[in-house]
Amino acid sequence: MGQIQAASAIEPTAVTPRELMSKHRLTAEEAEQIERAGHLFPGGALGGNALSEDAKFVFSRGEGARFWDTSGNEYIDYVLGSGTFFLGHAHPRIQRAISEQASRGTHFFAYLNEQAIEFATRLKPIIRCCERMRFTTSGSDSTFHAIRLARGFTGRDKILKFEGAYHGAHDYAQVSTTPKNPLEFPSGTSDTAGIPRAVSDLTFVAPYNDASALESILKEHASEIAAVIIEPIQRIIRPRDGFLQKVRELCTRFNIPMILDEVVTGFRYGLGGAQDYFDVVPDLATYGKIIGGGLPVGLVAGRADIMDQADPSNKGKEGYVYQNGTLQGHMLGCVAGMATLDVLSEDRVYERTFERAEHLRDGLRRVFTDNRMGILVFGEGPMWHMLFTEKEPENWRDILAADGAKLAKMEPELLRQGLFVLPGNRRFISIQHNEDDLEATFEAADRVCKALKS
Ligand SMILES: Cc1ncc(COP(=O)(O)O)c(C=O)c1O
Repeated sequence: MGQIQAASAIEPTAVTPRELMSKHRLTAEEAEQIERAGHLFPGGALGGNALSEDAKFVFSRGEGARFWDTSGNEYIDYVLGSGTFFLGHAHPRIQRAISEQASRGTHFFAYLNEQAIEFATRLKPIIRCCERMRFTTSGSDSTFHAIRLARGFTGRDKILKFEGAYHGAHDYAQVSTTPKNPLEFPSGTSDTAGIPRAVSDLTFVAPYNDASALESILKEHASEIAAVIIEPIQRIIRPRDGFLQKVRELCTRFNIPMILDEVVTGFRYGLGGAQDYFDVVPDLATYGKIIGGGLPVGLVAGRADIMDQADPSNKGKEGYVYQNGTLQGHMLGCVAGMATLDVLSEDRVYERTFERAEHLRDGLRRVFTDNRMGILVFGEGPMWHMLFTEKEPENWRDILAADGAKLAKMEPELLRQGLFVLPGNRRFISIQHNEDDLEATFEAADRVCKALKS
């Protein structure tokens, strides 16, 4: 992969703040696309997130921190493919890596290929818990396999997750991710129809940031629990000082594998992710999003004794754990991932991005304070959020207590002013958001406040 990208080559297109006055007007062509999608996809949506009726659009292209819809409306992107595009859209280094590889073949099933070996060689010293690893094809795929490996290793069926945490779309993860009427701990509620009760009953739920609650659940149920799975920063909620270390200590004491879900934090809080940032080493860690540079790549990494259960030479023997997938180790994903590591290894990339995120939070605080909105802006490093509340949330129930209706009213306005944020969820910034993007954001946010007040 070689040379590190010159900083100037990754500067986004220069667009002055005033040019960003998105009018969110749709051409007949875009309106027709939306109408057509309504007959193609359930709810006219590609997945679980639909835009509100009065602020719909169709993505056409992205570059750096911005994207354009079919009608040519321009947006500043704070969703970034659900946090995948930490490098911004269409990064030239990723484009180059993908197109060079595409002409040599892209995949040979999950058999060894040169690019996967090269990529894994670079990842191993970066990921502290990694003695062995397996590529997967998404974050959900990673958490699914990590849980199976932990179950195989311990011979236990249940897992423990934290209320409000998201670990993917599969049956073992869809418990108490956003419960509107939470139950008493450690019971959880299934988030979707279609999961057998016998499966959702396998999950204990604990309050995030509460080590003593975790300890009492483990005291009672440790012998049933195969893994404690945790997001180091739960959605946007920061761990209290020492909380992750306490989880680590309890997992060790009760002999339960700790799975650190780094799908969001991996490569975003430094190359070493949350393990370095918070100084915590789990038994297994799961990755997705940034690791594949925008291609479908995930990873499970961890202790050799747990990972080696998936050694295919043990197929058919007691203790073998099946871990496989047609597209594992996909070469386009591996080269895009290596290009991502190249860019993130550049001098001061993280420092610059963290500083810019702080500047963004400060500027938004100023706008919201000047407009007396009662909005709290908070976040850690390149993730931020805004809630109608006074106290920074420490767990899911604090988020529930914030005024979600007010936020839901504001979000389509933000979109109409050209700011794309994920409704009700944390926001991301990329290494390519620049001062122009921030200024444009402050101006747009100010217009939104004035519009809402009038
Ligand atoms: C912490 C965490 N784990 C797992 C997942 C699932 O990843 P994917 O959507 O790639 O399946 C996500 C997705 O947002 C996530 O945020």
